[in-house]
Amino acid sequence: MTTNTKMMPGQKSVELHARRQDAVAVGPYHVTPLYIQSAQGAIVIDVDGNEIIDFAGGIGMQNIGHCHPKVVKAIQEQTASSIHSCFHVMPYESYIELAEKLNEKTPGDFKKKTMFANSGAEAVENAVKIARKVTGRSAVVSFERAYHGRTLMTMSLTSKVNPYKHGFGPFAPETYKLPYPYYYRAPQGMLPEELDEQILNHFEQFFLGEVSPDNIAAIIMEPVQGEGGFIVPSAEFVQGVRRICDKYGIIMIADEIQTGFARTGKLFAMENFGVAADITTLSKSIAAGMPLSAITGRAELMDVPGPGQLGGTFSGSPVACAAGLAVLDVIEEENLTERAQVIGTRMLDTFRSWQEKYDIIGDVRGLGAMVAMELVTDRMTKEPAKDATSKVVSECWSNGLIGLSAGLSSNVLRFLPPLVITDEQLDKGLHILEQAIVSASK
Ligand SMILES: Cc1ncc(COP(=O)(O)O)c(C=O)c1O
Repeated sequence: MTTNTKMMPGQKSVELHARRQDAVAVGPYHVTPLYIQSAQGAIVIDVDGNEIIDFAGGIGMQNIGHCHPKVVKAIQEQTASSIHSCFHVMPYESYIELAEKLNEKTPGDFKKKTMFANSGAEAVENAVKIARKVTGRSAVVSFERAYHGRTLMTMSLTSKVNPYKHGFGPFAPETYKLPYPYYYRAPQGMLPEELDEQILNHFEQFFLGEVSPDNIAAIIMEPVQGEGGFIVPSAEFVQGVRRICDKYGIIMIADEIQTGFARTGKLFAMENFGVAADITTLSKSIAAGMPLSAITGRAELMDVPGPGQLGGTFSGSPVACAAGLAVLDVIEEENLTERAQVIGTRMLDTFRSWQEKYDIIGDVRGLGAMVAMELVTDRMTKEPAKDATSKVVSECWSNGLIGLSAGLSSNVLRFLPPLVITDEQLDKGLHILEQAIVSASK
């Protein structure tokens, strides 16, 4: 591959950016002012011909890489025969076939059924609708630092106030939040298992003081918190949540929208913890960039809403379903779950070696190829280094690497590279990243 030595953005991106500022609302934010021309695998080419290594994958929706030939072919073939008939009017086989595959592949040794929607937020909305209808209960519990989307219900279940919630209230009633173990920021000297125990014990207090468990329809959890800063819980914690759901007849929803499709070294992250949720929400990498999401769950729950109670005009379009079927084939054929483990280990080992050199790196964590570094101004106080984090992100893109930040304090550098990234591209990206960290540490 060619080496990018230019500082970006180039002239064409600058011109497009001026038009964007004039014509497009400010709200839809973008991390870089680089305008894309084309993309393949883990490489993006911008409109000025710059080659950029992608460690973001469109926020985790390009696990099999940009424009995988199998996906392109599947989309082309489907668009040539029928683009959309609306499943509610004339159904089609690809919807059924993808549902069958997701029923088989999502965790849980029980009969499952699936429905499709368009976005992650819509998947969560539908999972909540189903849980409420099944249980006849109204309350929904999520976790501190959770991210579930931008619609009214999902924004209400989300934690980060700014930018996601500020000024957009009032929020949906009967939504509550519980703590989620953040081992790096546990009280000094507290062991991970002690923190797990403290939080799980707190559930019972919460049921006394906040909401009765017999009014809770669902607990929704990200198996690894994404926007919250790539926070990985222990298997014991996830199993503890499962036990509490079982004890009180609460439906457990796993939001695998960011963690799914081989990202964490398993097809779905819950497999790492040996836990099956009752309902799983899926999106992002499910169809390699086509708008698609899925709600897969226990058949007896999924069938409670009656005909016409779930769906939407574009939900599960044949083009998106064709892409989704190709994605599952590619993951299997190219052993991408194993590749995620290799990439993740390589990145985490590199980050740990940097942690010994650069004081700004407070924590290194991840699961599979969902990896992060938390930046702090002081390792003792763990003061979040928000400005330095944003400097690293912009130093990266101006030198040919796309990375993202996350966390309530926006001080976590998070990476979700396409799993088809080559070793050479990975090394080059890591080199750019290290230079950016050195520069931000000054
Ligand atoms: C865990 C999780 N849930 C839900 C969503 C919302 O998905 P969408 O942006 O497609 O609505 C996201 C998006 O980042 C997510 O990471």
